[in-house]
Amino acid sequence: MAQKRVIVVGGGLAGLSAAMKLAEDGIPVDLFSLVPVKRSHSVCAQGGINACNEVARQQGYSEWEHFEETVLGGDFLANQPPVYEMAKMAPDVINLLDRMGVPFNRTAEGFRDLRLFGGSLYKRTHFAGATTGQQLLYALDEQCRRWEAAGLITKYEFWDFLSPVLSDNGVCSGIVAQDLRTMQIRAFRGDAVIIASGGNGLIFGQSTMSVICSGSAAARCYTAGARLGNPEFMQVHPTAIPGEDKCRLMSESARGEGGRIWVPKKKGDARHANDIPEGERDYFLERIYPKYKNIVPRDIATREIFYICEQGYGVGNGQMVYLDLTEKATGIKYEVLKKKLGGILEIYEKFVGVDPLHEPMKIYPAVHYAMGGLWVDFAKDGRPVEQGGGGMEKGNPRNQMTNIPGLYAAGEADFQYHGANRLGANSLLSCIFTGLFMGPSVKKYLSDVQKGSAADVNAFVYETRLKDQQKKYETLLKASGDQNPYLIHRELGKSMSDNCTIIRVNKRMKVTLALIDELKNRYQTRLGMPDGSTWTNQTLTFARATGDMLLLSEAITKAAIARDESRGAHFKVPDDKADRHDIPLDERAFQRDDANWLKTTLVTYKDQRAELSYEPVDTSLVKPRPRTYGKTAAVK
Ligand code: FUM
Repeated sequence: MAQKRVIVVGGGLAGLSAAMKLAEDGIPVDLFSLVPVKRSHSVCAQGGINACNEVARQQGYSEWEHFEETVLGGDFLANQPPVYEMAKMAPDVINLLDRMGVPFNRTAEGFRDLRLFGGSLYKRTHFAGATTGQQLLYALDEQCRRWEAAGLITKYEFWDFLSPVLSDNGVCSGIVAQDLRTMQIRAFRGDAVIIASGGNGLIFGQSTMSVICSGSAAARCYTAGARLGNPEFMQVHPTAIPGEDKCRLMSESARGEGGRIWVPKKKGDARHANDIPEGERDYFLERIYPKYKNIVPRDIATREIFYICEQGYGVGNGQMVYLDLTEKATGIKYEVLKKKLGGILEIYEKFVGVDPLHEPMKIYPAVHYAMGGLWVDFAKDGRPVEQGGGGMEKGNPRNQMTNIPGLYAAGEADFQYHGANRLGANSLLSCIFTGLFMGPSVKKYLSDVQKGSAADVNAFVYETRLKDQQKKYETLLKASGDQNPYLIHRELGKSMSDNCTIIRVNKRMKVTLALIDELKNRYQTRLGMPDGSTWTNQTLTFARATGDMLLLSEAITKAAIARDESRGAHFKVPDDKADRHDIPLDERAFQRDDANWLKTTLVTYKDQRAELSYEPVDTSLVKPRPRTYGKTAAVK
């Protein structure tokens, strides 16, 4: 029998970890990436990666605390055994990365340093300055190059994944992909396929995500029959530089290192921020959350910023607040912050023209992360926590598998680890954890579950899928209607951002859903391709992704309309209170409703539409409880 091969789609942390782990096990991997892997969106991650270590343990922290914080942060919507497994393995992930040479910041004693991050009162976030994602990505890239040189990894950079290939028995047996330079389309055999293609923030127009983050790979699996899990849960990060093209993240680590959020107490105060005395500033997160202060979880910080701006206290255009790193506000020396946060300070100075150590930054929330994604399975290990169990069964082929046999997902592309709201610095962890943990599971699938091999699948199956994609490509290339794909995308992004982010109101989301229907129709019947070239046609790639974004936005919006409760990042206000700015936000909104909504949304693509169903959440380890973070009555 020919040696079995695995296809990995996505060259970020999850994809590289999976490829490396499989290669270590002697399994050849074909790695596809839209961009050179070192430019995957993981490179943008700034603040850090969570894990318990010995220093954290001395504060009373443990893997259990990490798990607990993560499920509480996610408002109890995450299946608990996978989250527990991730928290248990986190210290080993850090040790591994350290051995690979990641330059983690160190304490004077030589320990890996830790910083505070949202949703925790413990320092448990490892970091490499404020460019942690870049350092991790480069380290994993080096490892993959080693396996490339050894002939076990073959890279296909600048390739667009077009569809999974399912054999006649419905098993995933390869992919169809397009070379984005020559525009040649080819089919590839693969005994298992791993989708590690990241998030879908581009759907919202501007976000902190890279402009390649359209979610198209996940969408193409969705139309092939893979289910989505919890697509309605999108994270809006509290602190970003607003931008016309995209928003630039100003890491939560700024607050973890002492940065403070505030607005002037006086509405419309026209003084320069540095001239506003301490007593005339409202450090509203500290006032409302005296326990967690500026490091409340993201969904909460985002809503408080939204609310204070809605009440008229915003600065600049009224739609921003200060994030203050000056010595006057933090009491921390300039040199200390420069050393720890250099990466983001440079970004702010470059894009705004102001040194944030001398003047408070002006920031506003921006779409940042998709908690939802491709639904994936897990197998519980069946042993009690006291005996080292409670997590997932290692090497079980079900772990990380979608509902399509042989099709796996990892990293931000899967829905599994963050529930209704992700805690900062758990993303790098979940990407690397899923990539590593699934290695033995995929291996087991190849040896014990898969019948035969992809090499035995009739060539006709691949030829047919290839021809389907070739035809779609040619149709798109020739499209001569009056609808520009960039303008369709702009309309979609604006409506999604206006109606489907921080505050969700059904009557508004229904407007968006109707628009999506109309845009789908315009896309299908009147699209015009502004660029007909057959070499490096980036417009075509974008136009194709626009079709995918329309499908995903329909799934997001439908699921959000159906979920009549507030949970984590999904904060729903009833129609009749939508404009009641006189009522505090919490009182305006639906409450969390465990009796009816403690369940995972599943979305299936059926008759060209998103069809919703639900499954229970595994809460076998911690009982859901109210999520208050010590909020006080917001007295001004
Ligand atoms: O704020 C940040 O540095 C982002 C980290 C994350 O999304 O985990």
